Amino acid sequence: GSERAAEVLGLIRDVPDYPQPGVTFRDITGLLADGRALGDVVDSLAAFAAGGVDLVAGLEARGFLIGAPLATRLGVGFLPLRKAGKLPPPTETVTYDLEYGTASIELRTGTLQQGARVLIVDDVLATGGTAAAGVELVERCGGVVVGVAFLLELDGLGGRSRLAGHQVDTLLRVES
Ligand code: PRP
Ligand code: MG
Repeated sequence: GSERAAEVLGLIRDVPDYPQPGVTFRDITGLLADGRALGDVVDSLAAFAAGGVDLVAGLEARGFLIGAPLATRLGVGFLPLRKAGKLPPPTETVTYDLEYGTASIELRTGTLQQGARVLIVDDVLATGGTAAAGVELVERCGGVVVGVAFLLELDGLGGRSRLAGHQVDTLLRVES
């Protein structure tokens, strides 16, 4: 219910001007350290997978922290979408813009079965650049993105419209 959602939100710490001036960092380490809240988050995210999911894909790094337990909860495998330079070749690469700087994510070529139904997961939806790159990467590798799920949506940064055409579900939503 909304009471539990408020509890979870209360465990996310806002850090102004980190890692650089003008950016507010959303620190989820306190939430991760709370067993009940972490369980609530994973259970709630699992409800977004009602239509059928073959794999959960998590975006490095914080998407791993909730994506892997979610995959276990759903009884499916987990696909790490890794930052550049972590996976041996051959890989597919997608480069994207962040609130601060740019980054690339990679997936090992051939790890995805053609037509696999993939739920993409991350902690925060801000501009949507990271998640949009994840969608592009999964689709390029032959997966079907059945949804994109987040713990926290920051309203007003255009993230949701950047993912237009896809099912987007978020547990919590705050003004950016
Ligand atoms: C943060 C966050 C999301 C992304 C959201 O990750 O975990 O992945 O930014 O921003 P966007 O919607 O504007 O793309 P970050 O790249 O800071 O790295 P981390 O997850 O490895 O900590
Ligand atoms: Mg991240």
